[in-house]
Amino acid sequence: MIPSILPTYNRADLSFVKGEGVWLEAEDGRRYLDLGAGIAVNALGHANPDLVDALTTQAGALWHVSNLYRIPAQQRLADALVGNSFADTCFFTNSGTEAMELAVKMARRYWHDHGQPERTRILTFEGAFHGRSSAAIAAVGTEKMTKGFGPLLPGFTQLAWGDHDALRAAAAAPDVGAILIEPVQGEGGIRPVPDHCLKGLREICDETGTLLIFDEVQCGMGRTGKLFAHEWAGIAPDIMMVAKGIGGGFPLGAVLATEKAAAPMTAGTHGSTYGGNPLACAVGAKVMEIVAEDAFLDGVRARAGQLRQGLEGLVASHPDVFEGVRGAGLMLGLKCRVVPADLVQAGYGEAVLTVPAADNVVRLLPPLNITASEIDEALSRLDRAAARVGSDAG
Ligand SMILES: Cc1ncc(COP(=O)(O)O)c(C=O)c1O
Repeated sequence: MIPSILPTYNRADLSFVKGEGVWLEAEDGRRYLDLGAGIAVNALGHANPDLVDALTTQAGALWHVSNLYRIPAQQRLADALVGNSFADTCFFTNSGTEAMELAVKMARRYWHDHGQPERTRILTFEGAFHGRSSAAIAAVGTEKMTKGFGPLLPGFTQLAWGDHDALRAAAAAPDVGAILIEPVQGEGGIRPVPDHCLKGLREICDETGTLLIFDEVQCGMGRTGKLFAHEWAGIAPDIMMVAKGIGGGFPLGAVLATEKAAAPMTAGTHGSTYGGNPLACAVGAKVMEIVAEDAFLDGVRARAGQLRQGLEGLVASHPDVFEGVRGAGLMLGLKCRVVPADLVQAGYGEAVLTVPAADNVVRLLPPLNITASEIDEALSRLDRAAARVGSDAG
């Protein structure tokens, strides 16, 4: 008999009842150190008092009002995002997938309004993940994502990772309207796109007018030690998707865009009942207030250095388990010689939570405000988890 929850997830046999900072408490009272943070969602940890205050204050005043009316919390958050990024405007969604849908529509509408409606094609990259909607699975195109869900939305071409010649050739096609990439691939196995490649993409787009779309759903909002990951490369996209960390655990996403890219999205071209609702935006505005601070991002970079160094040590101590460390900031991946799920499972035994990814990687995406001593504790738990897997392997 089918379970009462549609069984699309492979769930661990763990159930949490309470959270505080980087800690999660299970039903049996055991406390777990959370290095997954809801897959890069709980950017400021669990039950962050500032976010609880922002949420409950808003909840006591007004939960929901339609986008038929002005929403002050939404305006505050929009101003903060625009004021702290390349963007001139933004649209709020409830998730990364919905941001993906709008990014695709925006790119196509742009070329429609610029007299080249044939430029509908969007180039994407092997290993990418942009969500589970019809557009998002077509963008990724793998059998794993698309099998049985056809006919697929047309107009996407997937390119091999790092094949610059194939990219240049594909980008020259007259129907290409946009290039879509995660500056750091998340689900694909924590693969950062080198800065010079992001710059190269910007150049290719500038040559042909092609729109550059960054998916910063997982790597944005301070995760890499800058507010947005592309800032490290010193270039900017035309359109960017964000979600996950922006709501600190409350469902919220957004598309940020330049005026030029967004101008064709006039009244009536897009909308959402809940997107940008007062509760989400009150929390999002507080997250931005905290994360966009230089001192906070300095802290992320310091903790990232500590964690990375510790992980390098872990790799050296367990050469049978690990191949190396990769990633950026507090978005780090342990490339494994063992099955990643086995390491994640061993982590449960040591009460430390990690997340598997593709390419034989285990992801570490802790809350951005994790402390130095919590990182030390995380490293010793990971060390013990690796010893469990290593001894099993031996
Ligand atoms: C890079 C990236 N884009 C898009 C998505 C989809 O976001 P959501 O699950 O909020 O719809 C995800 C989710 O993991 C993601 O990592």
